[in-house]
Amino acid sequence: MLGNFTYCNPTKIHFGPDALDSLGGELAKYGKNVLLVYGGGSIKKNGIYDSIIKILENSGKNVTELGGVMPNPTSDKLIEGVKVARENKIDFILAVGGGSVCDYSKAVSVSVNCNEDPWEKYFIRFEEPTCDIVPVGCVLTMVGTGSEMNGGSVITNHHQKLKIGHVFGEEVFPKFAVLNPEFTFSVPQYQMVSGIYDIMSHILEQYFSGEDDNTSDYIMEGMLRSLIHSADAAVKNPRDYEARSNIMWTATWALNTFVAMGKTTDWEVHMLGQAVAAHTDATHGMTLAAVSMPYYRLIMPYGLKKFARYAKAVWDVRPEGKSDGQIAAEGLDRMEAWMKSIGLVMNITELGANESMLDGIVKSTLIMEGGYKVLTRDDVRAILKASL
Ligand code: NZQ
Ligand code: ZN
Repeated sequence: MLGNFTYCNPTKIHFGPDALDSLGGELAKYGKNVLLVYGGGSIKKNGIYDSIIKILENSGKNVTELGGVMPNPTSDKLIEGVKVARENKIDFILAVGGGSVCDYSKAVSVSVNCNEDPWEKYFIRFEEPTCDIVPVGCVLTMVGTGSEMNGGSVITNHHQKLKIGHVFGEEVFPKFAVLNPEFTFSVPQYQMVSGIYDIMSHILEQYFSGEDDNTSDYIMEGMLRSLIHSADAAVKNPRDYEARSNIMWTATWALNTFVAMGKTTDWEVHMLGQAVAAHTDATHGMTLAAVSMPYYRLIMPYGLKKFARYAKAVWDVRPEGKSDGQIAAEGLDRMEAWMKSIGLVMNITELGANESMLDGIVKSTLIMEGGYKVLTRDDVRAILKASL
């Protein structure tokens, strides 16, 4: 049964090979002083930077550049961005990059006009913005997080060894997102595959929760089948437009709040993955891949019906003559084999973790209550140990 909900997603999407043509019209709606935020330089190598600069110039904007946003953007970098935005009286933030750049831009947007420490306010106390928010628009170059159409912002604090996400309300969602699948062709294979698993994990975090039968479950099963099919094609040929465009659109819908409406969700895989990243700075999707199988095998008995349904609907496990336990286990085996086949990292050792870090990672793991089993600290340790 679906519970009560109000659904609104204010982000306008411009999708396709010509999507960037819409940027000038969007920029015209906002003030003159634009903060152009980007990462470590990939947009300068693949030409996206030049195209954007031309559009900004033609739109008559004063542009302040803020590059060097790192994967897993840090609280220190956030302070720097807030300072730059204040000094240049920024009216609009244009994020050009992946989830890190989009997340970071949102964090800056809610902090420019706020006098408190943003890390403490948003990522420790989880308060809502109480100041004017600088609007953000996004040109996406790497697919996975869904940040282009949601209010999520994940920031890492290396001093405190914490990586924490705040899910802001609709006033913080990007005003628009430009999604050109061709912009993702230059993403390295490791990143592409990591993004693909991030999408899968977002869907599974929302799917593996609750016992009821609702429309979202059927939508998510369809999205998963599309994702697996397109991922196989993209791994074979990264320039397969059909595959890359389907992956891009699935990523957006996987985490734009739509499939979560009226149902409970889990998010424990993300809490485990974020704790691993807080200690290793590893790539987001890979941290999720590395902890997923031990986690799902541990909770499977507590959500057996749903895991058996998943095995049949997504992995085509034939149920004849098998118990739910056998069907469910076979589904997870097929999932694991597929994960290996596309090149995902299946253990945290490969991501830089080791036995001596376990205590710290266990401590950094937040425990959620929406999954089939509320983990104990011993469970967390067992999952991480199984992933070493
Ligand atoms: O920095 P540059 O040089 O641009 O290189 C980036 C970066 O090294 C590269 N890249 C991006 N587009 C490229 C490209 N390289 C070549 N060609 C292109 N077109 O890819 C690398 C990774 O980029 P990043 O933005 O870090 O990846 P992703 O999109 O996976 O974002 C990860 C961050 O998003 C957070 C993660 O925790 C992590 O901090 N998440 C945000 C969520 C949200 N807003 O809802 C939810 C997610 O679960 C996730 O937690
Ligand atoms: Zn994620």
